[in-house]
Amino acid sequence: MTADALAADADRMARRLAAGDVPPDDFRRALTAVPPDRRDAWVDRAFGLDGLPADGPALPRGCVPYLPSDVDLVLRMLDAAEVTADDVFVDVGSGVGRVTALAHFVTGAGAIGIEVQPQLVRRARALSARLNAERVAVIEGDAAELVGRVPIGTVFFLYCPFSGARLARVLDDLAALAEARPIRVCSLDLPLPPAPWLTPIWRDARLLVCRSGPSVNPRA
Ligand SMILES: C[S@@+](CC[C@H](N)C(=O)[O-])C[C@H]1O[C@@H](n2cnc3c(N)ncnc32)[C@H](O)[C@@H]1O
Repeated sequence: MTADALAADADRMARRLAAGDVPPDDFRRALTAVPPDRRDAWVDRAFGLDGLPADGPALPRGCVPYLPSDVDLVLRMLDAAEVTADDVFVDVGSGVGRVTALAHFVTGAGAIGIEVQPQLVRRARALSARLNAERVAVIEGDAAELVGRVPIGTVFFLYCPFSGARLARVLDDLAALAEARPIRVCSLDLPLPPAPWLTPIWRDARLLVCRSGPSVNPRA
């Protein structure tokens, strides 16, 4: 695929997204037809995202600045976690809303971002509006305080927003949510401390996907 063909293809998708005319199967087919090393550029163009936004003073000390996930890793995670249109996907530290939009368009799931930096929240809301994505929303604030208040979430994704006490609090709140119903927890570049309620179902060098509930196979 030449650069011009890639741009034309992504522009076609942008027009279809704006018209609200893209079932998940179509979006996935179009995205996976793009060579893996060009998928990030294709998504950025189709979503109208350009350049890395600057981080601001609202980022708490010790928290990780904005850096977008690789599209291919997100695809792998969505497949490993078996995300479907019946899920509500939550991106904990959601930046400009790229992963929430991607999860929604690839799977049909509803998607909610939690982001502490207001200038990124504004960008995420502009993205949802541009893409006509009514089932993609973002909540502004510290995710360590807010995760427990999103009980409709069924799949929680963390691309390394923080560690330490904030991560421990998020995992405690997710454990409480998991008592009400099964959830999946996916982490990228973020080792999760072992917890009896979390069972790994997929892992590679960067990505870990767990489901709630004890292991049915003690050797898994
Ligand atoms: C490495 S980026 C990941 C962005 C996005 N999830 C992705 O995968 O493309 C981490 C994001 O977490 C946000 N963040 C860091 N600490 C946070 C906190 N305490 N509450 C909410 N968001 C936070 C940052 O502002 C940044 O946008």
